[in-house]
Amino acid sequence: MGKEQFYQDVINGLCSRQKYLLSKYFYDAEGDLLFQKIMGCEDYYPTRCEMEILTEQTQNIVCSVLGRDEKVDILELGPGDATKSIHLIRKMDQHGELGSYIPIDISPHIIKLLKEKFQKEFPHLSFYGISGEYFNELPNAISHSENRKVILLLGGNACNYQPETTLNMLKKLNGIMKKGDMALIGFDLKKDPRIIRAAYFDRDGFTSRFNLNLLSRINRELGGDFVIENFTHYACYDPQTGACKSFLISESDQEVFIRDERISFGKGEPVFMEISQKYDLHTIAHIAEESGFVQKDVFTDRKNYFSDVLWQKA
Ligand code: AVJ
Repeated sequence: MGKEQFYQDVINGLCSRQKYLLSKYFYDAEGDLLFQKIMGCEDYYPTRCEMEILTEQTQNIVCSVLGRDEKVDILELGPGDATKSIHLIRKMDQHGELGSYIPIDISPHIIKLLKEKFQKEFPHLSFYGISGEYFNELPNAISHSENRKVILLLGGNACNYQPETTLNMLKKLNGIMKKGDMALIGFDLKKDPRIIRAAYFDRDGFTSRFNLNLLSRINRELGGDFVIENFTHYACYDPQTGACKSFLISESDQEVFIRDERISFGKGEPVFMEISQKYDLHTIAHIAEESGFVQKDVFTDRKNYFSDVLWQKA
């Protein structure tokens, strides 16, 4: 992803009537670190819940994924450090049925770490890492895969968009898959709204730092002059629509320069940063059908906070 694209996206977002920044830009080296902190903090439950699913139901998931005596390739979209998917990878590898592991991540830094990690633990496995945006890079990823595919889209990465965008992406995903290929997709579930809000407004302040880091990144990479202290993180959850949204709020009337663009902020003005959409199981089953999949299995944690659903292209 080029710097010019980053600049254009930032200027477009901040010159809109309703200001926004794109959440894909959170993940520079500092953002990766802060996201790790979020995942480890008390209030952010999704990682723990999904980890419970992947560690305690590994055998069931792998049994559902593996068909006959054939090798399967794993394509993972947004693997992070792969601490979740590694449980499936190990188990499938033990069965001798894993062909290649092909991760796609927005962060080149993550891909480099993964490569080292996999060379150590799975030297016999074919590894092909791609850094870029999932949907742009999927055809490239698929061209490196010879076997039936399981596409992992864990951690709620599919939920980082407005529901209609997610549906379109899943339709598109289905369109480039072959009959018999599968997708294991994480969806965060609707639950007590206070629990959801706390996950995106954590008491340790990691989510706040994560959001503010994007302003620092703009300063670092695009020569912006944001005064970080003049913005505060705010998150809200709407239990009716299931949309959890984060914003940075301008604390005063202020002007910011990014190169020679001047951007004014009013006191109290929001910059929309991210949506993390929450679903219910009924809606998820409906989305599977709408996007051309058969839902083979639904795995949830004990509290029913999070689900990983296994879909197959019909
Ligand atoms: C990486 C998109 C799954 O939405 O829960 C966490 C990102 N942002 N806290 C999420 C995130 C703030 C996360 N995903």
